[in-house]
Amino acid sequence: MTQPSSNDKNIYLPKVAILDRVQDEIQEVKTFFWHFENPADQEEFKKFRPGQFAQVSIFSQGEFPASLPPSPTEKETFFTVRTVGSVTSGLHQLKAGDKFAVRGPYGNGFPMEQYYGRNLVFVAGGIGLIPLRSCIIYALANRDRYKKIQVFYGSRSPRELMYTQNLREWEKIEGFEFYTTVDRGDADWKGNVGVVGSLFKKPDVKVPVENTTAFVCGPPIMFRFVIKDLKDMGFHDRDIVSTLERYMKCGVGKCGHCCIGMAYVCTDGPVFTYEQIKKLGEDI
Ligand SMILES: Cc1cc2nc3c(=O)[nH]c(=O)nc-3n(C[C@H](O)[C@H](O)[C@H](O)COP(=O)(O)OP(=O)(O)OC[C@H]3O[C@@H](n4cnc5c(N)ncnc54)[C@H](O)[C@@H]3O)c2cc1C
Ligand code: FES
Repeated sequence: MTQPSSNDKNIYLPKVAILDRVQDEIQEVKTFFWHFENPADQEEFKKFRPGQFAQVSIFSQGEFPASLPPSPTEKETFFTVRTVGSVTSGLHQLKAGDKFAVRGPYGNGFPMEQYYGRNLVFVAGGIGLIPLRSCIIYALANRDRYKKIQVFYGSRSPRELMYTQNLREWEKIEGFEFYTTVDRGDADWKGNVGVVGSLFKKPDVKVPVENTTAFVCGPPIMFRFVIKDLKDMGFHDRDIVSTLERYMKCGVGKCGHCCIGMAYVCTDGPVFTYEQIKKLGEDI
């Protein structure tokens, strides 16, 4: 691969990245901390927005899209990836010091500036916390710009809660409401048991509806139930935002693989309001 020059801003080019360390999250899911070989590429990449994604190349194996879980306000760059097939397994086999390549950032991302002065409600299920982590950390780093911030996070079991260090920190932050739940507890679990939407009904929880943006990411079944809960509370479709996942090849609006109706998920998304998702005829 030809190494692009330090001032090369061609977003189509994969740039060489070096793996720094790997952290276990949950079964089959790990977080990969990395940096670009060329410091100028790192600086350029760090202008990404919460909710954008990148294309990750594993040499001689292929490429896949991955969300950017760090906030641009954080120092480190990393991906959190579940091993599902050949290329994600290739990433899981890399060791610290190994090289791979990254191109991006791509996609629209969440317009976090448009939400200044609003309440933010984050609802994540399972690995749906990966794209939302970026927005949550960004919102906390810009705490004065937002009103109430609430995070509702559900997983199947306590062993499937991700980013546990962040979760422990979030529990302690004043003026930030963080609630977790699991579908099934275990002998040590003293927290909530039930689906993530059950948290909305807790007596101490008051979800504001006026002047609020709700971010929802998780598996389709969770998404459907949470949307119903939010709609029952009075949320408008335009105030609910999510990310769509589609098979992608180019990531930059050229190949048509990610097309839904009139939209390319890679360039028009992956962030869409629920109003847009319905107009696209997307059956979630
Ligand atoms: C914008 C975007 C952001 C993503 N962010 C992340 C992330 O942060 N972390 C993460 O772990 N994964 C993420 N994914 C999913 C990830 O890209 C796929 O899991 C990956 O492409 C699988 O590649 P593979 O070669 O390992 O598996 P393959 O051999 O290509 O596929 C293995 C299995 O996974 C299914 N599959 C593959 N890609 C997709 C897809 N896009 N949607 C639904 N099913 C799929 C296939 O049908 C097959 O059953 C994201 C996808 C998109 C589109
Ligand atoms: S992935 Fe090629 S057009 Fe979207």
